[in-house]
Order: sequence, then structure tokens, then C-alpha cells
Amino acid sequence: MSSHYLSPWAKNIAPSPTLAVDAKAKALKAAGEDVCGFGAGEPDFDTPEFIKDACARALAEGKTKYAAAPGLPELRQALADQYHNYGVLADANPAQVVVSPGGKYSCYLAILATCGPGDEVLIPAPFWVSYPEMVKLAGATPKIVLAGDEQGFKITPGQIEDALTPATKLLILNSPSNPTGCLYDRAEMEAIMDLAIRKDLLVMSDEIYEYLLYDGSIHHRPASFSKEAQERVITVSGFSKTFSMTGWRLGTLVANPTIAKAVANLQSQTTSNATTFAQYGALAAVQNWEAAMQAVQDMLVHFDRRRLLLLDGLNAIPGIECLRSQGAFYLFPKISSFGLSSEQFSDKLLENEKVAVVSGHAFGADGYIRLSYATSDEVISKGISRLEKFCSSL
Ligand SMILES: Cc1ncc(COP(=O)(O)O)c(C=O)c1O
Repeated sequence: MSSHYLSPWAKNIAPSPTLAVDAKAKALKAAGEDVCGFGAGEPDFDTPEFIKDACARALAEGKTKYAAAPGLPELRQALADQYHNYGVLADANPAQVVVSPGGKYSCYLAILATCGPGDEVLIPAPFWVSYPEMVKLAGATPKIVLAGDEQGFKITPGQIEDALTPATKLLILNSPSNPTGCLYDRAEMEAIMDLAIRKDLLVMSDEIYEYLLYDGSIHHRPASFSKEAQERVITVSGFSKTFSMTGWRLGTLVANPTIAKAVANLQSQTTSNATTFAQYGALAAVQNWEAAMQAVQDMLVHFDRRRLLLLDGLNAIPGIECLRSQGAFYLFPKISSFGLSSEQFSDKLLENEKVAVVSGHAFGADGYIRLSYATSDEVISKGISRLEKFCSSL
């Protein structure tokens, strides 16, 4: 059938390049190839046992029906209490919390609830691949502002100000970042929020990697800075990355009552609720926070060791330069010295050496590649040797 039958939305949307690389690597593996996969954006650990147990209990108890569209009341309340403690919410008001089927869907609904035709959305690059596509699906226009490694991959208030037009409605922030692992410090984040308030911008703060931090780094939630910030920041997060629950599909969104209600309405008409029994697993995590954070600490020991193994290995390869990340589980080395586009580099690397990485192009930053270290030490060591061989052949 010709694409004539497709809607403008469907014709316009690009498939997720990160999922595509992962699928390609998995297909090669299934065909018997020895692939070193650095493409996956998911922790390689199992979900903590007590969370799985709570979900299994919910299933055994017959919690298999529809739940309230914006989430289980007890989960929304537990999250509202937590976000109130963080200073993101002025009161522990559960009406300001929506539980969605994944952080991805929280982002999409945040954009859909606030932006439409004629609106511009500022997206700092390198960006998570889905933001521009989501903005386009909302009928709005993505405006990309590049922050390279020379500025730590962090956008400055000056760059934001230069990119503003009367149509600018929303600024997207993602700290710690996918794909760079960079983290804004308090002063940097405050300067951006001051500008956002002065220029009447909404901010979507995607904090999905908020607990995956290294070198004693601290995550700062922009909504917690002031009353005005609480009003205009939409805080998105979720359970996928923190608790290795990618397949559970559970995201969160916290916003002022008007936006939270609009998001809940959009969700009620498009998916109804996030999976009911999965939400009981999430509830166990939030209600047993100490145990949940201990599980995260246990994962972080491995992530941190792998981060440093990969970082040192990359920086030892002539021609590659990689910044030390502070969060998430990605590194974003510069490969522009080899004279190939990042797509050519990653395609050839997979073809010649069976190493799967994602090209920086996918994240709006050619000249870089993204490697996820949510994989074993053995794969990292083998991958570095192959990458070194590949680079010396160029
Ligand atoms: C920056 C960022 N935001 C949101 C998500 C969405 O996560 P999920 O939908 O699995 O909760 C991801 C996942 O890759 C991400 O990297």
C-alpha cells in the first residue's frame, strides 16, 4: 500500500534510532555473531525482588482491573508526599501527580498538554532522540540549540536567550542527560530557571536518571527552586532506569494543577491507566524507600566501575576524546577527528568490528557517538579493543 494513505503525523515521524540500533545488534547476535552491544538504554540488572514480589502479590490478589486513569490513588499520594519533601510541590497534593505508562509517555503528554501549532519548543542538543519527534506530533516546532563538549554539553542562559522568539513556549531540560551523562550544577540550573521565569517559559524537566549519579554529584530539581518555578516546571521521571523496570512501563509527571489535570485528561482518552498490578510494584518501591535506594546503590557500584573502565579505555584511543560523565549510564565521546560522519562511523564499526553504538547524529550532535555501559565488564573490555582496532584502521 502506498504511503498516500498515511497521516501527516505518521509520514513525518522518524523511528527511534536507539531502539533500531539495539534491534540490529540483537538480530546479529541471534544470527550467531559475537556482537559487543553498547546501544541499549536500559540497565542490565533485574528489578529488585521486593518490587517484583509486590507486583506478584497484586496479581494473586486479583488487582487485574482498570485503575483510576491518572494512577492508583495511594501511589499518587506517596509520590506527592515525596515531591513535597523535595520542594517540587508546595503541598502534598496528589492531584498534581500523574502515573503514566512510561517516562516516554509522560514527556509526550507534557508536550501535548502545553504545545500546539505555532508554538516553538527549545531543545538543547545533544538531546534524547524522542523530544523533537514528540514536539512535531503535537504540531509544534522544535528549535535545537547545540551545546558541545567544549561547554560540558550544557546549554547557557545566553544561548537560550538568543534562540527565543515570541513563539517560544517550552524549554526541555534533561539532567542527568541521555546521551551525555552530564549534570547541571545548582548555579547553572538556577540561572536557566531565572531566565525561564523572566521570559515566561514553561520548562519540562526530564529527571528520569535522577538517582543514577557518580563522583558524589547532586541532582537539582528546578521545580524546587521557588514558588514561580513550582508553577512553571513540569517534572517528568519514572521507574524504568532507577529500579531497572524498563519493561514495566511506569512513568511519573508532576505539574501545576491545571497542567496535571490536562495531562490526566489526555491520558484518560488515549491509554486509560498504567498497568494496574505494575503500579503496586512501584508503590512498594516508594513506600520502602530505604530498601529501594539500597538496591539502586548496589547497581551504582557496578555502573560506576564500568563507567570508569569505559571512560579510560576510550580516552586511551588516539583520536577519541571523552568527557567524564556524572550521571545516567552513557558516555558520549567525540570521534570527529576520524573524518567520518557519526552515522558512517557507527555503521562501519558495526559492520567491520561488530560493535553497536548509536551515532551522535541521532541526538542532534554529529561528530560524537553514544555508548551505554549498561553491559558487562567483559563486553566493555572487548568492545574497547575492537574500537581501538577500528580507529587505527581509519
Ligand atoms: C532522557 C529520557 N527520558 C525518558 C525516557 C523514557 O523512559 P521510559 O519510557 O522507559 O520510562 C528515556 C528512556 O530512554 C530517556 O533516556
